[in-house]
Amino acid sequence: MKNFGKYFVWGVATSAYQIEGAHDKDGKGVSIWDSFSNTPGNVMNDENGNIACDHYHKFEEDINLLSELGVKAYRFSIAWTRILPYGKGEINQKGIDFYNRIIDLLLEKGITPWVTLYHWDLPQNLQDEYEGWLGRQIIKDFAYFADVCFQAFGDRVRHWITLNEPWVVAILGYGQAVFPPAITSNSAPYLAGHHLLLAHAEAVEIYRKKYQKDQGGLIGITNNCDWREPVDQKSENKEAAERALEFFLGWFADPVYFGNYPASMIDRVGDRLPSFTEEEKTKLKGSSDFFGLNHYTTMMVENDDHTIIREQNVYGNGGISEDQDVILHTDPAWDKTTMGWSIVPWGCRKLLLWINQRYGLVDIYITENGCSFDAEVEDGQSHDPGRVEFLKGYLEACDEAIGEGANLKGYFAWSFLDNFEWALGYSKRFGIVHVDYDTLVRTPKESYYWYRDFIK
Ligand code: GAL
Repeated sequence: MKNFGKYFVWGVATSAYQIEGAHDKDGKGVSIWDSFSNTPGNVMNDENGNIACDHYHKFEEDINLLSELGVKAYRFSIAWTRILPYGKGEINQKGIDFYNRIIDLLLEKGITPWVTLYHWDLPQNLQDEYEGWLGRQIIKDFAYFADVCFQAFGDRVRHWITLNEPWVVAILGYGQAVFPPAITSNSAPYLAGHHLLLAHAEAVEIYRKKYQKDQGGLIGITNNCDWREPVDQKSENKEAAERALEFFLGWFADPVYFGNYPASMIDRVGDRLPSFTEEEKTKLKGSSDFFGLNHYTTMMVENDDHTIIREQNVYGNGGISEDQDVILHTDPAWDKTTMGWSIVPWGCRKLLLWINQRYGLVDIYITENGCSFDAEVEDGQSHDPGRVEFLKGYLEACDEAIGEGANLKGYFAWSFLDNFEWALGYSKRFGIVHVDYDTLVRTPKESYYWYRDFIK
């Protein structure tokens, strides 16, 4: 692989709720993930993130492992309720101290912090007060939280990500009820998505007006997208695949780059899709200094008109397929991870090129890519050959995409540690470092050593 170059940013990523634990330590407030996962029946095996990897107490050991890995950058998220236990109002100094220690230690080891402000752990208080992302007040409250973080950490943090995967927040939380606040609806995802975008834009405006000049950092948003490949070359299926990408990535990237939703969404979703005022459009347009992308898999797309579903007014999956008039398939020939996600490296290459074609030559950072495979520890070693193959395949695809003109500037493997995989609990293992959840002992896997040598 020859196209990555000297300045390519190699990193690994995590998020607060998935690794930190210490859910009620040192003044931390309750998030929707605390409540959801501590309510029986929501998470596989009724597991929760109360302890997780106990990174809160083991961060020094973890940062040493990062340092030995040789990554230039580490992406982690800040738990909103550690900083503002009720989501707004009084600041919890102990929360600030915790992230200060992490940031300082990373810098001491020569590792650049990439900080995500929102990786899904909304303060429960804001959920109770105005239904979280369904309430317009969230825009102001998120902007305040962001402001507090810029003020506290911005002298040392130069890479900010406002939101992680607003699509997941909207669809899984407000459409399919898989994640908290566990709502089933075919309109709530669009309202939540609208407020997520406006909250992002508000935070960016604050950063640019108050901090960016002095602190000299970059700020952006991370969206997730799988590749969508037409099942065949019939024009209706090719158009359906394009539409599926617009409903997935275009939903959140078009407003940020063009100031409005894709026309296909405006036409099809109708009144359920809120519209932006002219002022909001201006604020959104150009509100990301880089293109953050989380990419995991690929699905085949077939055109479908969903007439029967519509007539019965049954929206089974939060509008995910019905509004777009597509049906998604997987190819049985594709290898799968233990999550059942297909391993399709060429989908990654195609997606990177699609982004550069639609949004211009934007700087793209893959802020997450990885896979779930089991790996036990035997004689002090943990073998995960499937993950090594996965990484090789996807990195090769990235290399090819750069060769074909994509402006890919960085790659963060998901994840650094095995961690709490949301509604699937601890059953899925994404880490390049094995974590024994009983003893909390860390053991680097074969993929950790492979990645270390690869990025050298
Ligand atoms: C992403 C998410 C991560 C992680 C990963 C693997 O959607 O941002 O937190 O869980 O998926 O499922």
